[in-house]
Amino acid sequence: VRSVGIAGLGSYVPERIMANVDLEKIVDTSDAWIKERTGISHRHIAAENETTSDLAYRAAQDALKDAGISAEELDLIIVATCTPDMLFPATACILQEKLGVKGKPSFDLEAACSGFIYGLAVGSQFIASGAYEKVLVVGAETVSRVVNWQDRNTCVLFGDGAGAAVLQPVEKGRGILSFHLGGDGAGGDLLKVPAGAAAMPASAETVAQGLHYLHMSGNEVFKFAVRVMGDAALKSLEKAGLSKEEVCYVIPHQANMRIVDAAMRRLGLPMEKAYVNLDRYGNMSSASIPVALHEAYREEKLKNGDILVLVGFGAGLTWGSMVLKW
Ligand code: ACO
Repeated sequence: VRSVGIAGLGSYVPERIMANVDLEKIVDTSDAWIKERTGISHRHIAAENETTSDLAYRAAQDALKDAGISAEELDLIIVATCTPDMLFPATACILQEKLGVKGKPSFDLEAACSGFIYGLAVGSQFIASGAYEKVLVVGAETVSRVVNWQDRNTCVLFGDGAGAAVLQPVEKGRGILSFHLGGDGAGGDLLKVPAGAAAMPASAETVAQGLHYLHMSGNEVFKFAVRVMGDAALKSLEKAGLSKEEVCYVIPHQANMRIVDAAMRRLGLPMEKAYVNLDRYGNMSSASIPVALHEAYREEKLKNGDILVLVGFGAGLTWGSMVLKW
């Protein structure tokens, strides 16, 4: 089994910024409430003609450049998204076309906000086994397209964006040291977009009832998130044979500052070890972790040999964590 690591990172967020004060004009909310309950101050929202694959394309180009390779050299393209351009074709195929290459295996992976960690875990298997050399994993979302902009309980929480990583073989003992993935379908009702796919095709009725929008039981998701983040992080550390004291940075899913705070406390690590940027982006689902990882890298916070833990949770329910040696 070969060791696999990240050879390049990239990210992209739409230009348009929506601040909390802009939301005050749309729903009955306030900048103070949103900041206090979530930690978010603004988020980026895709332009009308901008799709998930467009964001994925910009992030992918950035990651390819960072890795110093062309799209032609990729053996596989994985896009983790729960807001694909269409039900099919896969956004990964649309991305391939935008990257100007042909013949590459390309597929989407749906694990909601845990999608990027799932994507890294899946993509790395092809390299570990020796089947492929270079795999592109993108987490890309336009969550703004599925939120109800009249529902203050949800519309204030999310943002759009994309992050990408190029995986390749690395020297033994570096890169991905371990991962832990989990799921619980019994919690599927806590967070879902009920209509618009095959179980409940879009109709005038589903639209009238708002069933094509994201529906969430915020408090339940909150409790689940706090519990699972700490536990998942500890499980992957245990698999890597490392103690939590050896962790340099935790890159958590960026849903809510209070969730990050509670999860870090559960983990028994100080908040300084968590990389947080949700104040500027909101929850970008599968894009949150790669955008945060890319930012930490760009800000030169990650040093050679540092131990990082990526950890996330999302609809499904799903969760995942991964230990990396930088
Ligand atoms: N502005 C003002 N008031 C609001 C807003 C708002 N934007 N949203 C809700 N409120 C009100 C509620 O109506 C409620 O009023 P009431 O007491 O009169 O009924 C009050 O504020 C308190 O509501 P709570 O739901 O108890 O607020 P809480 O502090 O729990 O925060 C939140 C809600 C932010 C949604 C929190 O529960 C949360 O972050 N949950 C996790 C969500 C999450 O992470 N989702 C993403 C999962 S990832 C994925 O896969 C997409």
